[in-house]
Amino acid sequence: IYLPERKNSAGLPLVEASVRQSLLADIGKVLKTPFAAGPIVNGTATTAGDAAAFAVSPHDHRERIGSVRLATPQNLEDAITSARNAFVRWERTDAAERARILETAADLFERDRATLLAALIREAGKTLDAAQAEIREAVDYLRYYAVEARRLFSNAIRLRGPTGEDNTLTLRGRGPFACISPWNFPIAIFTGQIAAALAAGNSVIAKPAEQTPIAGYLVVKLLHEAGIPRDVLHLVTGGGKLGEALVKDQRIEGVVFTGSGETAWAIQKSLVDRRGEIIPFIAETGGINAMIADSSALPEQVVRDAVRSAFDSAGQRCSAARILFVQDESASRIRSMLAGAIEALDVGDPLDYATDIGPVIDETAQDALESHKVRMQREAREIVDLAMPEACRAGTYVTPALFEIDRLAKLDHEVFGPILHMIRYQRDHLDKVVAALNATGYGLTLGLHSRIESVAQYVSENARVGNLYINRNQIGAVVGVQPFGGEGLSGTGPKAGGPNYLLRFATERTRSTDI
Ligand code: NAD
Ligand code: ALA
Repeated sequence: IYLPERKNSAGLPLVEASVRQSLLADIGKVLKTPFAAGPIVNGTATTAGDAAAFAVSPHDHRERIGSVRLATPQNLEDAITSARNAFVRWERTDAAERARILETAADLFERDRATLLAALIREAGKTLDAAQAEIREAVDYLRYYAVEARRLFSNAIRLRGPTGEDNTLTLRGRGPFACISPWNFPIAIFTGQIAAALAAGNSVIAKPAEQTPIAGYLVVKLLHEAGIPRDVLHLVTGGGKLGEALVKDQRIEGVVFTGSGETAWAIQKSLVDRRGEIIPFIAETGGINAMIADSSALPEQVVRDAVRSAFDSAGQRCSAARILFVQDESASRIRSMLAGAIEALDVGDPLDYATDIGPVIDETAQDALESHKVRMQREAREIVDLAMPEACRAGTYVTPALFEIDRLAKLDHEVFGPILHMIRYQRDHLDKVVAALNATGYGLTLGLHSRIESVAQYVSENARVGNLYINRNQIGAVVGVQPFGGEGLSGTGPKAGGPNYLLRFATERTRSTDI
């Protein structure tokens, strides 16, 4: 068993009303002052000026939460030049010192919890529970990669040679890394990528998603405060065009990306087109994830875990279940219990602790999800589609829905929101279900509910997925406990929060000395 000496972040006990109220009061204080965000190059933040645009909350577009300035081409050039120059100094900094700074940052994240929560709730539309879980994940990445940096980078590995020579293998940083992240985990994934690259001795140019620059800005500020040198870590704010310019630059020595498959392909193409070194590209992308429940499964448990897996974070998790395969014998019972559970979900302001489903990120997401519902209303059987609460009409909300479809082929893309699909399968067709899922080419998460050991064994051996969850929900992988990431169209690996992750950010050097 591999157990590093490290505890995962506990967060605050939000179920206790007094704790929650005090935290909500602190978040309220933070939200009284509008956020200001923009590029941070060499520690200098550019947040004001004519080009600053208003950021609005997905909960209510009339609510201006702050202003954001986009990085200019000159900001990008300065960031890359500075990261290039700073690299050697950072790479030669003791791994133990790099680790210490990351651990200091983890403490600062916990100190500034209310500010980070405020950004997650208002900029990304996360509920308080989901936002706290995200901050805990970010803290865990910082502490986990710190431990990993000490383990992997502090000492050379000595290897015995046949003629008595002295051989050593060391891991070294590669150079400036581009860290490109999505809006759905604007603190956890953003921090995880940066922490890994820095722990391995690389300098970093980080680009948050265009929908969530405020969260990225707050993270970089805290990392600098913790002691990451200002020329080692830079923030550039902007969208796809900026990301493209960043990865195409010859001075970038590695790219870590989390986001859609389409963007991963675009980046891969940019890397092919650019001349010069062949560099590592770590991509974690989407999935068409299923949960399978056979007739030995406990219906209450299936319903509880399917609802959590499909609707937590308004279904905006790469790990979320999109399809529930239910064995014929229990399908009608589970369908009606599921419908009841979905009808009990509260859709509303994520700042309200009773809310289960907050908004989706923006109008583009809302339009795509509403179009999918319209298509499903034509091609499938609608089981539930909750009415839109009046109070949600000023934001980008999509209500939770359940459709019964007759075959997997009806889902030809990742439906990134609170829509679950159910498919019945016959007793002897488990192999066909697994084969159909494998045939999608995606391989991120799979849930299985079964009390039959041979079924669990069959699915474990045959399903080509990165993360299989048995008799539980399939979201919220814990750093260092459930290393996370997919295969096939869902990602290149290595797994985030796992013992092999930092290796991909490093280069290996062997030295052989004859005695
Ligand atoms: P996206 O692909 O639209 O954007 C991700 C990032 O890439 C953003 O920062 C964006 O600005 C940047 N980008 C866009 N075009 C680019 C280009 N040509 N070159 C360089 N950078 C470019 O994804 P999104 O909508 O922000 O995130 C949702 C997606 O992320 C979903 O598909 C989800 O499944 C996936 N995701 C995967 C994981 C995982 O761990 N596997 C985790 C979270 C999200
Ligand atoms: N790591 C995130 C989860 O497991 C995406 O839900």
